[in-house]
Amino acid sequence: MTAPHTPRLAAEVADYYTRRFDEHARLSASAPGVLELVRTQELLRRHLPAGPASVLDVGGGPGAHACWLTADGYQVHLVDPVERHVAQAAEAGCSAELGDARALSAADSSYDVALLLGPLYHLPEPSDRQRALAEAMRVVRPGGLVVAAGIQRFAPLFDNAGHARLHLDECETRTARVLAKGVNDGKLFTSAYFHRVEDLERELRESGLAEVCAYGVEGPGEALLKAAEVATGRRVPVESDLFRSALVAARTAEPHPELRVTSSHLLAFGWRPGQAATS
Ligand SMILES: C[S@@+](CC[C@H](N)C(=O)[O-])C[C@H]1O[C@@H](n2cnc3c(N)ncnc32)[C@H](O)[C@@H]1O
Repeated sequence: MTAPHTPRLAAEVADYYTRRFDEHARLSASAPGVLELVRTQELLRRHLPAGPASVLDVGGGPGAHACWLTADGYQVHLVDPVERHVAQAAEAGCSAELGDARALSAADSSYDVALLLGPLYHLPEPSDRQRALAEAMRVVRPGGLVVAAGIQRFAPLFDNAGHARLHLDECETRTARVLAKGVNDGKLFTSAYFHRVEDLERELRESGLAEVCAYGVEGPGEALLKAAEVATGRRVPVESDLFRSALVAARTAEPHPELRVTSSHLLAFGWRPGQAATS
């Protein structure tokens, strides 16, 4: 009998997170990072079943979400393919293992919730994203919840404008390419796929998940925070009026689905059919 196929993490993704970028402080070191964290927390807390439910945090990185979910009373286990992340998560007190979203070691129907807050955009091939979603759906119980993050297709437009570099020829050309095809080259990030809202929802539905709905995470104020930090070289304080306004902007935009394109990240929720949804 042949051994089950173990997918290989792209070398550039391993290199990015091991040598080029420390994911550890991404959600705490800048105002846009904190905005992403606060909004992700409020969307997850709104949809997750009450604790103590079990959560598999796939692509959980150094444990930013696993830590607060554990503090909220959830039983969280984290999986990530980058050794540095698994070591950082374990150091932060998380239960963590090395693994890939496309071939999870968890048993069928063994979790209440599976989070995929990272793997999908790092998998440019549609078949790899399908495998990751199929695996997430396999490991949650019937009626369980799968939550998947996507980088929103038009995010580079706001991001590069906020970083005051969109007018540079190379950046403008690269941004236009991403907007047209959704495929990011590895220059500022890794090779990646940036979803249109409807594509992310469709991918979840095609994997068999029900009642699928995608939210914009950061809303239209994030680019302003970024621009302020780039222009001043200083962090925008969380207590500032600018940060508070950006947070209110994200919440105010939420009932207007057409404004999801103003967020850098999308958070899509879908339930495995089989028993009443838990939202
Ligand atoms: C930007 S980080 C997000 C970390 C964390 N989930 C969060 O939301 O802050 C993306 C994560 O996806 C992980 N990742 C990349 N490819 C993956 C794959 N094939 N399977 C599982 N995780 C993957 C990376 O190692 C990294 O930890």
